[in-house]
Amino acid sequence: MRGGREALFAGGACALAAVSLLLLLLGGSGGAGRSPAQLRCQHGLAAPANSADVNAELARLRQSYIVAVRDSLTGVQLQTPGVVPGRSPLEEVPFSAEQRSRGDDWPLYGLTMVGTARLDNLQQLLTDVIHNNIPGSFVECGVWRGGASIFAKAVLSAYGSDREVHLVDSFQGLPPNTTAEDSRMWHEMDYLRVSQEQVAAAFDRFGLLDGGVHFHRGYFRYALPAWRAGGGIGPIAVLRMDGDMYESTNDQLYNLFDAISPGGYVIIDDYGIAACRKAVHEFLERHGLRPRIVQVDSFGAWFRKEKAAPPIDQSWYLSFNASRSTADSPRE
Ligand SMILES: C[S@@+](CC[C@H](N)C(=O)[O-])C[C@H]1O[C@@H](n2cnc3c(N)ncnc32)[C@H](O)[C@@H]1O
Repeated sequence: MRGGREALFAGGACALAAVSLLLLLLGGSGGAGRSPAQLRCQHGLAAPANSADVNAELARLRQSYIVAVRDSLTGVQLQTPGVVPGRSPLEEVPFSAEQRSRGDDWPLYGLTMVGTARLDNLQQLLTDVIHNNIPGSFVECGVWRGGASIFAKAVLSAYGSDREVHLVDSFQGLPPNTTAEDSRMWHEMDYLRVSQEQVAAAFDRFGLLDGGVHFHRGYFRYALPAWRAGGGIGPIAVLRMDGDMYESTNDQLYNLFDAISPGGYVIIDDYGIAACRKAVHEFLERHGLRPRIVQVDSFGAWFRKEKAAPPIDQSWYLSFNASRSTADSPRE
């Protein structure tokens, strides 16, 4: 069940909720005892005629907030330069609105590399689970500087949702590859090493670090089973997979797919990477799943977990694990 605030906001017809958000956006609590119309006059705004106007204003302000957060996270707002993905040493490139919108460069200054289109899609999927009452949290595996998770938290907050946000990462970059499906290149990319403290500080700067944000630290191969074993994985409404590699994608799917609510979503940020795409298709085929995979841009995609999806058969994953080297220790 979604929380009371979420239902209130998602319903869209409650002037009280609208006014609370307007007050929040207008700077808080100075309006005690005044009517919404008086408050709006005090702030120099035209008085809305009725609750439909208030709701329209709420929707406009909410979207303005979400866009402002999005463009700040991607570096679009300040038009920050980028670097060529995967290139070492780093090769700086000037800001290109087109590239940044598709996530085709990595922002030098910016908190997410996924680009505007994939953030817009994330917003659509989150609002869909809110409106359709699909239970569960938002989980991102592979967070880098935290921007996509910050964006998810901002969207949830703007819709009055207190759904949990979980971030899973080594917070020290990608692991050394433990199979021949991946290359060691990923592990060597220092640009992808970002500490948990840096990510938490970024959440805090947006005013979005609260008790509903959870960090799970370690290589997925170890951190995800530990999270499962601890019994703490509740239902997941939206899983955002962003770990680039074959093994990272398998670790996410085999450890988390069962926890995704029927009707929930799986985002495959790295569908454009052959090794990731291979892991996804092998997983789906092994389980007889044929979801419609929707491409967002040339790189990212998503699919919906079918209502009747059976529990995952772990046998392939167990033998895969047995075949992997432990080159990625020390474990965390
Ligand atoms: C491409 S970045 C993620 C981009 C991020 N989602 C964004 O919004 O910009 C990949 C991240 O995945 C993490 N990662 C990849 N494979 C991992 C694994 N097997 N275990 C832990 N972290 C992993 C890396 O540490 C890195 O932070």
